[in-house]
Amino acid sequence: MLNSKVEKVLNKQIELELFSSQLYLAMASWAEKNGYNGSANFLYAHSDEERGHMLKLFHYVNDRNGHAIVPPVEQPKSEYESIQAVYEEIYEHEKMISSEINNLVGVCYEEKDFTTANFLQWYVQEQIEEESLFSTVLDKLNLLGGDKARLYMFDNEMEKLALAGETTSENEQ
Ligand code: FEO
Repeated sequence: MLNSKVEKVLNKQIELELFSSQLYLAMASWAEKNGYNGSANFLYAHSDEERGHMLKLFHYVNDRNGHAIVPPVEQPKSEYESIQAVYEEIYEHEKMISSEINNLVGVCYEEKDFTTANFLQWYVQEQIEEESLFSTVLDKLNLLGGDKARLYMFDNEMEKLALAGETTSENEQ
C-alpha cells in the first residue's frame, strides 16, 4: 500500500513523463517539417518511449493500491531555432528528469518505502542511459559546426538509431 506522500510524488512523475512524451512529439513534428526526417523518426519513437515510462508508473501506482491520475495536457512549444537547439533542450530536459527521479527516491527513503525505491532503480538506470545518449548526440552535433552536408549525414545516423530501437529500450509497444 502506498502512503499518500509517495503516491503524490509518483503522480507528479507521471505528469513529467507524459510531458516528456508531448515535448518529443512537438520536436519530432518540428524536425519533420524542417527536413530532418531521421531526427523526426528518432523523436517520434522517443515520444512513444516516454509514454511507456509514464504507463509503467501508472500500473505500479494502481497495483500498490494507489490511484494513478491522468494529468492535464501541457502544450510544449512548437518552434525551434535549429536542430542543435532541439538536442540541447532535450539534454537539459533529461538532466532535470534525472534530478526529479533522484528526489523521488529520496522521498521513498524518508518514508521508508523501500519497495518503491527499488522499483525506481529502473528509472535511475534509464536516466543514466538517456543522459549519456543525448550527451553523445550533442557532442557529435557540436563537431559538425553547422555544415549542411554533415548535418545530413548526422540526420541519417539518427534514423539508424531509431531503426535499431536505440530510443526504445523499455518500449512495451
Ligand atoms: Fe522518461 Fe527521457 O526519461
